[in-house]
Amino acid sequence: MLPTSVLVVGSGGREHALVQALRASPACPRVLCAPGNAGIATEVACFPVAADDIPGLVALARRERVAFVVVGPEVPLSLGLVDALAAADIPAYGPRADGARLEASKVFTKEILLKHRIPTAPAGVFTAVEPAIAYVRARRAPIVVKADGLAAGKGVVVAQSLAEAEAAVRDMLADNKFGAAGSRVLIEDCLFGEETSLLVVVSGKHYVILPTSQDHKRVGDGDTGPNTGGMGTYSPAEVVTPALLDRIEREIVRPSVDAIAAEGIDFRGTLFIGIMLTADGPSVLEYNTRFGDPETQVVLPRLADDLLDLLWRAAHGRLETSGRAAERPAHALCVVLAAKGYPGDYAKGDVITPPPALPPGVKILHAGTARNPGGQLVTHGGRVLGVTALAPTLRQAADAAYRVCDQIALEGKIYRRDIGAKQLHRK
Ligand code: AMP
Ligand code: GLY
Repeated sequence: MLPTSVLVVGSGGREHALVQALRASPACPRVLCAPGNAGIATEVACFPVAADDIPGLVALARRERVAFVVVGPEVPLSLGLVDALAAADIPAYGPRADGARLEASKVFTKEILLKHRIPTAPAGVFTAVEPAIAYVRARRAPIVVKADGLAAGKGVVVAQSLAEAEAAVRDMLADNKFGAAGSRVLIEDCLFGEETSLLVVVSGKHYVILPTSQDHKRVGDGDTGPNTGGMGTYSPAEVVTPALLDRIEREIVRPSVDAIAAEGIDFRGTLFIGIMLTADGPSVLEYNTRFGDPETQVVLPRLADDLLDLLWRAAHGRLETSGRAAERPAHALCVVLAAKGYPGDYAKGDVITPPPALPPGVKILHAGTARNPGGQLVTHGGRVLGVTALAPTLRQAADAAYRVCDQIALEGKIYRRDIGAKQLHRK
């Protein structure tokens, strides 16, 4: 029996997509969200409990007699929300704190990858500036400096020069730019190629690979400027050919799931594997332990399986077999609209005016939005909206999404004009 009520935790575009996909389940569950955003609030009841308020969320789930909790962001997972819900006999989808460490500590993950011989860049781990700089000099630039802990996607510096790498080392280890998250750093060889995000629903030894997707991490067109949480996505990512996906499953997915189980972690949640497709083959950049944002916005509309059924079975250790999810043949594309200043300090409270009607196949998923006292829709976070289109071809999806992006009135809005361009221009 599937649950009749589901609480989604989080407030981004990912959670808006999760809410919509769970509501579309044939089981017709009552869906709630905490804390949600202005867009989610037009569809389901939202409760003002912060995503990192673990006791508050457990109390909310009890009070609302929620039968199942789906956790979006990494912070509550690493704070043990799923453990706390289990202690209160409330089933939840997402790893416990031990599994969330795979995202919360890049050093922990690198050790597992190396120990289990899963393809990944060679790396050194440092807590002091001098040996770190000596290592950088010995390896040469470009080289990648990563803060060990959670840094909202900003703790990675792909340094093009020794000076840039040394500055990153000093920022993290001497000047505490990322606080405790940067008190250990990983310095790893730079990999070259296209990236892909693979979302895998894992339950112990079994897994279901969701449709492929590609994110655009840099803020500027042509992959320029600083890294962000993600400026846009599309699915399927055709750079991952069927043969390459077979290879990724054999060399990365199956070994990762087995390695995590061998480390004594009963992982039940999304393993999001960031992969660089190098000339020598696919290589793991990182694990995240949750759905990607904005990957989820393009992956879920293409999922032909019932998401609620999949997550419920995964949460209960009842996946039983491993393989691929059933996919819809359409192409999905999501363009993120960010607030003026993003990914630096950004403006809050700017009025957003969406077009009065949307063309078929296009949805506006909300991320950092709220209502001001006058009831107007305003910006409330760095990434504000995700314009998501589903169409028979990627070109049609891109054209439809961009027409709507152009029609959204938001002063100083930032968005990339080239989401999907790599695939559109590939022969
Ligand atoms: P991560 O949070 O570890 O995925 O890193 C964020 C981004 O930095 C990735 O999506 C890549 O674009 C880039 N990156 C991370 N590690 C490497 C690497 N070893 N070589 C090249 N780019 C990397
Ligand atoms: N879009 C990348 C992430 O969710 O981490």
